[in-house]
Amino acid sequence: MKKILTLKRGLRGMLEIPGDKSVSHRSIMLSSLGTTPVEVTNFLAGADCLSTVACMKALGVTIERAGDTVSITGNGLHGLREPENVLDAGNSGTTLRLLMGLLAPQKFLTTFTGDDSLRKRPMARVIKPLTEMGASIVGRNANRNLPITLLPAASNMRGITYEMPVASAQVKSAILLAGLYADAPTTVIEPAPSRDHTEKMLEAFGARLERSGNAITIFPAEKLTAPEKISVPGDISSAAYWLVLATILNGSDVTIKNVGVNETRTGILDVLKSMGATIELLNERTSGGERAADLRVISSNLRGVEFGGAIIPRLIDEIPALAVAAAFAEGTTIIRDVAELRVKETDRLAAIVNEFNKISPAAFEATDDSLIVHGGREKFFAECKTRADHRMAMSLAIFGAAAQGVALDDDACVEISYPNFFDGLA
Ligand code: S3P
Repeated sequence: MKKILTLKRGLRGMLEIPGDKSVSHRSIMLSSLGTTPVEVTNFLAGADCLSTVACMKALGVTIERAGDTVSITGNGLHGLREPENVLDAGNSGTTLRLLMGLLAPQKFLTTFTGDDSLRKRPMARVIKPLTEMGASIVGRNANRNLPITLLPAASNMRGITYEMPVASAQVKSAILLAGLYADAPTTVIEPAPSRDHTEKMLEAFGARLERSGNAITIFPAEKLTAPEKISVPGDISSAAYWLVLATILNGSDVTIKNVGVNETRTGILDVLKSMGATIELLNERTSGGERAADLRVISSNLRGVEFGGAIIPRLIDEIPALAVAAAFAEGTTIIRDVAELRVKETDRLAAIVNEFNKISPAAFEATDDSLIVHGGREKFFAECKTRADHRMAMSLAIFGAAAQGVALDDDACVEISYPNFFDGLA
């Protein structure tokens, strides 16, 4: 049981946040496909990214880590080798789905499993396009769930055009990675733009991509050329907890250093600003194709807003934190088109309604695909369950800190994306 007390005053000063989870995964995977050493700095040494490191090592890649610096030397685009054992993606959808795309074209067999949460999550969305490209993939529950086996590819992948039914960077990335090995260009069409870290990093490794509206085409590659260094920006999804907490706690004036502000990730800034938040981007810069800035946040009064559609993929992981902000806003907030939350680490719509309502009764309602938050309702101390979901744990923690405190049944799950979150809060 982890008890969080009410914060008596605002946040002031400077805050450092860990490296971006999405960029950290991709830095390991793509560096593994080069032939020269890459030094990755500000790597997120959270459990999800360490699952990726363990999988790549099992595929024959040389990886050494000292804290948040990682050295990787790959054996080339065709240098991965058959793992001796089942690969465990742990809690990490990104590890699993991206590696399925990377490994489907290989001439060897791979079997994946994962933890209780990942074994429940939908995988047909990746198996379907990869099968169209010529891969042979079988999985439990009629090819929907882990454990999943990728049979050795009988021939090269086929280049396809694939219209994705859901905006998912993980699915898009899986197809693009498989497309590196195809016999012709591969095009993915997204219903709305999702995070584009894979595209940006593939280009930094010399791959050829073309974009046209919501379509992205990757050309087959003969080799990738690794950069010497990759500096991972801070994770805006981790900054989200402090952005919200500083906004709702009176007397806050805090600067969060080195936050990745890639356009496909900044939906939270747009929404918080539209609710009345005061957030300033300082010292904007580009590093390795990714934009970063320091974010200064000053406490502000918020009002309820309504949003949905194309902005959702740009803030998909920040909705639990935004729901906390909405609980402190004046009026009602309506968040539409968020059915994807039902298939994250847990069903986050159900989790928000069940757990957040313990703190602010009757403030949170959900439909199949939307979340409604009635702001300004009374808030109480409560004992809440995180459902072993890192983002639920951190959102509940800031909710309690800004209200009457909270007790969490499990705090270890923050290891997934923000190992020292509670030190930061303390
Ligand atoms: C991620 C993509 C998102 C996000 C996840 C990380 C990625 O998932 O929720 O935390 O690194 O590509 P979807 O693309 O499936 O929405």
